[in-house]
Amino acid sequence: MDAADIVDVVKEFVTLRKAGVNYKGLCPFHDEKTPSFVVSPAKQLCKCFSCGKGGNAVHFVMEHEQMSYPEALKWLAKKYGIEVKERELSDEEKVAATARESMFVVNEWARDYFSDILHNNVDGISFGKAYFRQRGFRDDIIKKFQLGFALPGRDVMSKTALSKGFSAEYLEKTGLSFKTEDGRLLDRYHGRVIFPVHTVSGRVVAFGGRILTSDKKLAKYVNSPESEIYSKSRELYGLYFAKSAIVKHNRCYLVEGYTDVISMHQSGIENVVASSGTSLTSGQVRLIHRFTDNITVLYDGDSAGIKASLRGIDMLLAEGLKVNVLLLPDGDDPDSFARKHNATDYQAYIDKNQVDFIKFKINLLKEDAGDDPIKRAELIQEVVRSISVVPNDVVRQMYIKECASLLEVDEALVVTEIRKVRAANKDGKADSSSTSEEKSAEATTSQNIANASFVLRGRRGAAEERLLMEVLIKYGDVKLEIPGEEDSEQTAAKYIEKSLIEDDIVLSSEIYNAVLREAAQLPMSPEGHSLSYFINHPNAEVSKLAAELGEDKYQLSTNQKADFIPDRDRLFEVVQRLVHDYKHVLLKMQIADVMQQLKDPAIIADPDKFMDVMKYYKELLELQQEFAKFLGNRVVLK
Ligand code: CTP
Ligand code: MN
Repeated sequence: MDAADIVDVVKEFVTLRKAGVNYKGLCPFHDEKTPSFVVSPAKQLCKCFSCGKGGNAVHFVMEHEQMSYPEALKWLAKKYGIEVKERELSDEEKVAATARESMFVVNEWARDYFSDILHNNVDGISFGKAYFRQRGFRDDIIKKFQLGFALPGRDVMSKTALSKGFSAEYLEKTGLSFKTEDGRLLDRYHGRVIFPVHTVSGRVVAFGGRILTSDKKLAKYVNSPESEIYSKSRELYGLYFAKSAIVKHNRCYLVEGYTDVISMHQSGIENVVASSGTSLTSGQVRLIHRFTDNITVLYDGDSAGIKASLRGIDMLLAEGLKVNVLLLPDGDDPDSFARKHNATDYQAYIDKNQVDFIKFKINLLKEDAGDDPIKRAELIQEVVRSISVVPNDVVRQMYIKECASLLEVDEALVVTEIRKVRAANKDGKADSSSTSEEKSAEATTSQNIANASFVLRGRRGAAEERLLMEVLIKYGDVKLEIPGEEDSEQTAAKYIEKSLIEDDIVLSSEIYNAVLREAAQLPMSPEGHSLSYFINHPNAEVSKLAAELGEDKYQLSTNQKADFIPDRDRLFEVVQRLVHDYKHVLLKMQIADVMQQLKDPAIIADPDKFMDVMKYYKELLELQQEFAKFLGNRVVLK
């Protein structure tokens, strides 16, 4: 962190101009025409004043290169010639790591070998390169995607690999070669053009090989088998080349094949990945979801399989993605359309013609069903199934309205049908769509809520909560001098944690709760190390939050500021007040909610329910009075 200079790092990707004490440039994270990306050498921070992205050098590299925290650190270390020492691996880890590493090494050698043949071998040029040329692929695109050619001989590649010292074991494990019954080592790919498949960080895990002819007797593509490094369901073709563009445009286009991805890149649309001919798995969807919430599925104009594939799209909805559909003109696929149109026209066509998936589905099925009542009932069921998997309540609600109006049925009917499907799916669904960590996190949260007499969950955006977070991050590990409790060894964070637990308060976001828990565990320190602890936190979200809250302009800016002097003796007073202000705000919001409920006709109509709510309302009012007392005391205290 000390070695890295933010200006120096950003300059690798963005053209910067000096602007006073800072530097300015066009933001690399969104499209813009006037520069709003500011780099401050004094603060060693960068920030886009339009889209808000930025942070320190590590954050910038993480965001720009779509790397994890450790990857970004390694990237910086390399730039500044710093050696990164990694933990010594255990013996088993070493064996596994060397096996995997050896597989990557042999794959990457093979990639270079196939590419060398394509560019330098007579047959490679006259068959392979000629094929790509005839398809209209430019040389820079052929190089970028590291395309290659496998010579027609049955064992040319295997022999060359062995002669270079690669072992048959790894050639087989990667699937580049296979052994015949009589023990010969043969090439999986021969006489085919080669498409390497990359992981999200750019390593080669597999290959696809396409025949040059349209011989119906031969498989069009031969692909690598599953291996220790390659699981088809966890990779997406093109993601490595697409990820920055996906983030920049906040959208991912989904196509079927290798050539669709490559042609679209060539025509200037780079936020595109391919499912490689099969329907998406939830692992692949999550991979996309790391980079954006928005996906557009591209369909061939004459695609007979659209209806069959509609069901597959439900999974995208279930993962919380917002799904659009684009139908290409009749007779075109994403590849052929790219060859006929430049980037501007292609993009304009997409922007004009992509439609929301559920609307698309309704309209498509509506045409079929016509006035036939049975078909219409089926259609409603089919649409209900899609809507019911949408996890976000607000979005689901919107679809219900849309569906009712497009199908001219009563909204209440759609609601009832969706409720039925959701109830029936409940148990099964949680299993298939969440990881074990997600499930346990969900479980603890809901358990907390269930166990508590009542839980006040913080409201996002409450200014008081933000101030509490600021104190936690800046002074979490500082000792509190509590009057009358001279020997209590309590940090600010411990005190805050305890005070919130007392009233069963859960902060509004997982990340806030995680910071709270972690801050409370920090060892006490007189000078306070928590800010730098959180700024250098391996979780990018946490470190961004810390960088943000640590910035001067966020410093307890309102009336609290006067109280907030670096005088640590008064830290307790300030923390105590913040906690109470926060609780008070939550209470007021809760009271407002309950008052609303007391006006709800459904509740008024149910006497038992009404009494319950009434009782709760009275409890809240009593609490409110206690707060008033405390506020009174505080005036005396001053
Ligand atoms: N595919 C495959 N094996 C096949 C056919 C297809 O693995 N026998 C996968 C490939 O990943 C391919 C994708 O499905 O890219 C889409 O198939 P298709 O549209 O037939 O191939 P394209 O890549 O479009 O190839 P081309 O344009 O050369 O026909
Ligand atoms: Mn094609």
